[in-house]
Amino acid sequence: MSTPVKKVPIHLQSSQNRLLIRHGQVVNEDGITEDDVYIEDGIIKQIGRNLIIPGGTRTIDARGKYILPGGIDPHTHFEFEFMGAKSVDDFYQGTKAAISGGTTMIIDFAFPKPGESILDCFYNYRQKADDKVCCDYALHVCLSHWSEQVKREMELLTKEHGVNSFKMFMAYSFMLNDGELYSAFEQCQKLGAVAQVHAENGSIIAKNVEKLLSKGITGPEGHELSRPEDIEAEAVNRACVIAKQVECPLYVVHVMSKSAAEKVNEARLRGTQVYGETLVAAIGTDGTHYCSRHGFQHAAGHVLSPPLRSDPSTPLVLMNFLAQDVLQLVGSDNCTFNKAQKELGKDNFTKIPNGVNGVEDRMSVVWEKGVHTGLIDPTRFVAITSTNAAKIFNLYPRKGYIGVGSDADIVIWNPNATRTISAKTHHQAVDFNIFEGMVCHGVPEYVIVNGRVIVDEGQLRAVQGYGRYIESPAFPPFVYDPEKVADLKPERNGTVEEEIQNIREIEKIHL
Ligand code: URP
Ligand code: ZN
Ligand code: ZN
Ligand code: ZN
Repeated sequence: MSTPVKKVPIHLQSSQNRLLIRHGQVVNEDGITEDDVYIEDGIIKQIGRNLIIPGGTRTIDARGKYILPGGIDPHTHFEFEFMGAKSVDDFYQGTKAAISGGTTMIIDFAFPKPGESILDCFYNYRQKADDKVCCDYALHVCLSHWSEQVKREMELLTKEHGVNSFKMFMAYSFMLNDGELYSAFEQCQKLGAVAQVHAENGSIIAKNVEKLLSKGITGPEGHELSRPEDIEAEAVNRACVIAKQVECPLYVVHVMSKSAAEKVNEARLRGTQVYGETLVAAIGTDGTHYCSRHGFQHAAGHVLSPPLRSDPSTPLVLMNFLAQDVLQLVGSDNCTFNKAQKELGKDNFTKIPNGVNGVEDRMSVVWEKGVHTGLIDPTRFVAITSTNAAKIFNLYPRKGYIGVGSDADIVIWNPNATRTISAKTHHQAVDFNIFEGMVCHGVPEYVIVNGRVIVDEGQLRAVQGYGRYIESPAFPPFVYDPEKVADLKPERNGTVEEEIQNIREIEKIHL
């Protein structure tokens, strides 16, 4: 089967192709400048003051606001068939909700059904996503078992289909054992891919579950009891040790606890190349919601794995770890199930479909908990919500950066406006929101996706199928050659040719 080719409809190619954003503060991960940004045909063409631009160009006044690289959510699961249910946010509603919150690119996970080849799985996800996505997207591919065929297909996916990351599980029935993880990491290293792990000790969880159910603990409170912090921390440490053996860059998805984050930190200090992603759920709420007095639906609505932690200091500590670069990114792990679907686990917490929302609220919640509280500044906000994902998955500086030659994925962010999160008003398909009632400072007033204004003065006009599949080339220089790229930062104020050349230099390092 050949890879489906994405066509941009004609009516989307011609209109609204020029845009000038004036008087805002341009924020990149390495600094803030007061500049105007001129966009043409989906690309940033000029940055500076007193730009000379064609007449008739639409102008947006960003006075008092920040001009940010659009968010990149490195972790979503749209229309994912999991634990007997299918997540309700599909690639249309999920990406539409993402844009409304200031995220202009998502990376989803192609997860093979039992017996399905990872290559077919990839094609199937492309088919599901291509005509629905409202913003650009890329795919990680999950390895739900290990075999010679998987190994061969990883090579094809990396070399021919723009996949540069593979997720492996250390829990669930489809977990890999240590030897299999070793082989899979080794193959990732050979191919120039990033190994991702869901780090929890599945064997111990199974034992804990048996014990809890036999004691009659069947409600959602059993979820965290069966998967305590230690079980997460142990697996994080083990994954780091295995990755170090084969010198494979490792990305730990959904770091949910202090002790797991500490293991990431220890490994980094030992020289292991490991990146830690935490979730907006983990910094925006906590595991006290699992308590039975909240009732089944409320508690089950918060069930994801690894669980939210009942230690209420966790969100603040994780935010501090993001500030100190112990952790590098915030994803959403958006995997939404309606209340009726969560009922599958009414009599047994192990059957509650795992997953929560976050794709829409990620940017606002991180701003509220990070920038508004003063723990991080806007440059670090950009790093953890956009640029670091672009660097790790080799999308930088096309994505995650406001510079000449980059894609015009831009958010005009009003730090003084507020909004209250609610399932009643969110754009997601799901009927529950784990951040219900949270008041967030920081609102995306304009969201520009590939040069088009999709959120316009707060009004959302998402276009189904407008997004593209973006290939993530192997051997990301920031991961595989960090020394080489350390001094190679694109300039923001050169001529168009100089700056495009600069971007190409970075892209060329591994071509
Ligand atoms: O509970 C979760 N995290 N659901 C999504 C699947 C995964 O492990 O990321
Ligand atoms: Zn996971
Ligand atoms: Zn609660
Ligand atoms: Zn996930």
